[in-house]
Amino acid sequence: MAENTTQTPIKRDEASNLDQALRPQTWENYVGQEKIKENLRILLTAAKERGHAAEHVLLYGPPGLGKTTLAHLIAKTLGTNMRGTSGPAIERVGDLAAILTNLSPGDVLFIDEIHRLSKTIEEVLYPAMESGVLDIIIGKGPSARTVQLDLPPFTLVAATTRISMLSAPLRSRFSGGTFRLEFYSSSEIALILEHSTTTLGISADADTIMAIAERSRATPRTANYLLKRCRDMAQLASCDLTTDIISKTFTLLGVDNLGLNAQDRAVLEVIIEKFNGGPVGLNTIAAATGEEQATIEDVIEPYLIRLGLLERTPRGRVASSDGYKHLQTLTINSK
Ligand SMILES: Nc1ncnc2c1ncn2[C@@H]1O[C@H](COP(=O)(O)OP(=O)(O)OP(=O)(O)O)[C@@H](O)[C@H]1O
Ligand SMILES: [Mg+2]
Repeated sequence: MAENTTQTPIKRDEASNLDQALRPQTWENYVGQEKIKENLRILLTAAKERGHAAEHVLLYGPPGLGKTTLAHLIAKTLGTNMRGTSGPAIERVGDLAAILTNLSPGDVLFIDEIHRLSKTIEEVLYPAMESGVLDIIIGKGPSARTVQLDLPPFTLVAATTRISMLSAPLRSRFSGGTFRLEFYSSSEIALILEHSTTTLGISADADTIMAIAERSRATPRTANYLLKRCRDMAQLASCDLTTDIISKTFTLLGVDNLGLNAQDRAVLEVIIEKFNGGPVGLNTIAAATGEEQATIEDVIEPYLIRLGLLERTPRGRVASSDGYKHLQTLTINSK
């Protein structure tokens, strides 16, 4: 059609290209998580010096804190390939066997969402992690026999947002260490945003960057997401990233001064307004908000707890006095 010839061609996959570009490629650009970085540096350097595959590592923590990025950096440091897969993608024992037997010596196998591996697959993984062998059962019934295959040495890097769902035997096999990723400080997020503005070719002053950092839920992925949305807004207004542009963007996105979005506030509101501040069970909150329990547990709660707005008690979730205050302030400001 005639009109189309004047349009700018659409570049595919802008989102994934951007995410790729924003992902740190070096330890220097991987901000924060100092303890984990130091532990990994020692583990990886020592293994490399001995000429051995590094021991298996488990990374856990809320989404967007940098688990997948760490797995990439681990492989890079070891000078090997990273093969990535995830718990739900490994449906049958044959899938795992195919992955393991296709590894090259020293490779990093990254299994994301490892808490979603089935029991049967887990049991095949144990000897592979511990002794580097794969036990395969051939045939059925009385004539069935087990064949043992030697695997190339490999390092399993596993990630999960739900450490509590991992069985004790699986957890205990991460001999290289189990590391919990922490939320980031505002100044760490500001540093990440500075790198991101350079990568994206955006200019923003320190105040603007700090304003975004403070609303990022202490999470690098959210910080980069907010930066991209603010950039879109600035582009349409044909101006620089100013504090005015970013506050317009936050209003449009429904992100408040603590970085909470509508879903976060809905959880807090339900507990306070419908259940008198709690205690109230997770399934009740899920039903009342229409959110999945897993989303509440993995994504929403950890940040509300970090801010001290919500508490987890044995009898259920309870809103704190700060939780009440936050909602009150928002109501007053919106009047
Ligand atoms: N320490 C960091 N320094 C700089 N940027 C980071 C850091 N951690 C994460 N990021 C940025 O945040 C994005 C999300 O990180 P990543 O994909 O590693 O999170 P994740 O923990 O694997 O999340 P999920 O649980 O959802 O898989 C990265 O692409 C990167 O741009
Ligand atoms: Mg990930």
